Amino acid sequence: MPGKPKYYLTTPIYYTNGLPHIGHTYSTIVCDTIRRYKRMRGYDVVMTTGTDEHGVNVERAAKKAGVAESEFVAKMAAEWKALWDELGIPSDEFIRTTDLKHAHTVQWLFKLCRENGYVYPGHYTGQYCIYDNAYVDVKPGENCPDCGRPTETVTEANYFFKLSTFQKPLLDWYAQHPEFIQPESRRNEILSFVEGGLRDLSITRTTIRWGIPVPGEEPHVFYVWFDALTAYLSAVGGPNYEKQGYWPADVHIVGKDIIRFHTVYWPAFLMAAGLPLPKQVWAHGWFLMDAAKMSKSKGNVVTPRPIVGVLGMDALRYYLLRETVFGQDGNFSYDALVQRYNSDLANGLGNLASRTAAMIEKYFDGSVPAVVAGIDPRYDALLHTALADIADISRYYDVFNFSRVLERIWNLISEVDKFLVIQQPWTLAEDPSKRDHLARILYASAEALRIASVLAHPVMPESTQKIWNLLGQKTNLDLQSLDELTWGQLKAGTQLGKSQALFPRIEKAEAIERMEAMENEPQKPVTAPAAATATGGAAAAPQAAPEKIGIEDFAKVEMRVGQIKTAERIVGADKLLKLTVDIGTEIRQICAGIAPFYEPEKLIGRKVAVVVNLAPRKLRGVESNGMIIAASVGPEGRPVLAGFPDEDVEIGARLK
Ligand code: MSP
Repeated sequence: MPGKPKYYLTTPIYYTNGLPHIGHTYSTIVCDTIRRYKRMRGYDVVMTTGTDEHGVNVERAAKKAGVAESEFVAKMAAEWKALWDELGIPSDEFIRTTDLKHAHTVQWLFKLCRENGYVYPGHYTGQYCIYDNAYVDVKPGENCPDCGRPTETVTEANYFFKLSTFQKPLLDWYAQHPEFIQPESRRNEILSFVEGGLRDLSITRTTIRWGIPVPGEEPHVFYVWFDALTAYLSAVGGPNYEKQGYWPADVHIVGKDIIRFHTVYWPAFLMAAGLPLPKQVWAHGWFLMDAAKMSKSKGNVVTPRPIVGVLGMDALRYYLLRETVFGQDGNFSYDALVQRYNSDLANGLGNLASRTAAMIEKYFDGSVPAVVAGIDPRYDALLHTALADIADISRYYDVFNFSRVLERIWNLISEVDKFLVIQQPWTLAEDPSKRDHLARILYASAEALRIASVLAHPVMPESTQKIWNLLGQKTNLDLQSLDELTWGQLKAGTQLGKSQALFPRIEKAEAIERMEAMENEPQKPVTAPAAATATGGAAAAPQAAPEKIGIEDFAKVEMRVGQIKTAERIVGADKLLKLTVDIGTEIRQICAGIAPFYEPEKLIGRKVAVVVNLAPRKLRGVESNGMIIAASVGPEGRPVLAGFPDEDVEIGARLK
């Protein structure tokens, strides 16, 4: 019997100089959704993610942290991996570019390219952006055109890859494989880039130490993209890829920022080595915050944990995939997130599930009613909508049109809602002669709900499994075949399972404040417990047992005495006060989650302890540049401002 067809997909491998934010989480959620969908379609799927651990950035970050590079990246890689596990989106293969098997694959790929005549030694001088790990086309003294940060002039001996000779082969490849670059707009962008001519590419470095050595050519180490891209191959067998049978990849999911590396460099490297090319590269857009790409340096980063803590992972998955058309940029907004949660999840899916189950419980003792055969146009309309959805939604999944998938499922949900409003089963229940009709209506609702759950499972695995169990199904929904899904599979007489809370309604302002407060706490490492911190935010989150830190860690936090100059409430944010605080060198605007406990006018002139070197953030749309220290008192975490009762200390004095 032939085995299942294999399907291989990848997320980008993420840099280890920071921790995941919503943008990275989006790439991984997308891949997890595709993986789940493909498994439900009968594929043997492998999904790879991992960490990109070499390069000058890491060298510098490790130095700053006073640890060896290997130690630094090991800790960061563990953080990334643990977070994906915690969020329920672990990869099947987690590749680190410091893995030995990866080094062997990179060295092997280089050897093949060199033997085939596509590598030559040379010198290179250029402006290099250390943040993007790339030479950029600017003059000395100019900033990086991509990220706007300073560039450095670098001259070094390196090996070059003859990218220029691949212009025609690449253009031919794109022409023969129109599906290779998606979406279409990116394809056009890459076509014109390649048509404009390609320059040879330096693929090794002699100026940095932290990289995979080029065998016999020390001090050359591999250039970051030659190293990083190869991770996709090392994860599934490297030189022995044929034995594992997953290469070539079916799809690389990437952000639009790295499409060029994946659709120009990577296929050229593989062509040069005589290896098979991936079938597709799909570039999604960015999640923006206030119209800018999220980045740590801009202080506009949103991370997944606070959202998951308040609304749950399925809500985050739903929001990210529903709100934005895959391939386009989207704006992240807490407001829209909670709005979607309440309207689509709490009032939509959650409410339908609990209503339907409650009525079957009440009128049929919790047992799915049998349907008396016969044509009934009211009931058939629902059946036809569901059948059309089954066919269309698979097609939308196939082209990664997740927003359309969800639109259609939520259309079915609202059809069932309307159907219930029109049919009024609660009225029919009062008339014993209408029992068959009542059975039909409740069967149809439950069956449509079952179908909606199966179809939504790849996007919302946890809550759909709960609904599946609520409908009396005992199996793991992951194993449900989408190919066999059809109307009428819910068996009459099935006893419903226990009802469970799916998406409790939440008050918008409170949810946002809780998420923002958690976001403003220092990120807690997953692999080690975090130190307890006072917070300028509102509700105190559970605090882990304190870890001991060295004095050098403490010294990183700059705290100064500040004096509150003005204080006012923020419309729409019950817990926040907007303060201006004199910290000696300047007046800062800081938001503090103390509004329920302090009258603004009584704070004027008060001296407080301020963390002054926190990256600025926006809280409910208001810029906050620093944090006021407060004790967190009692189980509800009531904030009590730290102060200086003994002496009138000078404004700007440092706290040590
Ligand atoms: N290490 C390289 C990729 C090497 S792949 C062989 C890299 N890493 S990264 O940590 O910067 O993460 C890149 C990916 O994270 C992006 O391509 C994108 O998939 C995702 N995102 C990072 N910020 C993002 C947004 N604001 N929005 C959506 N996704 C973005 O580049």
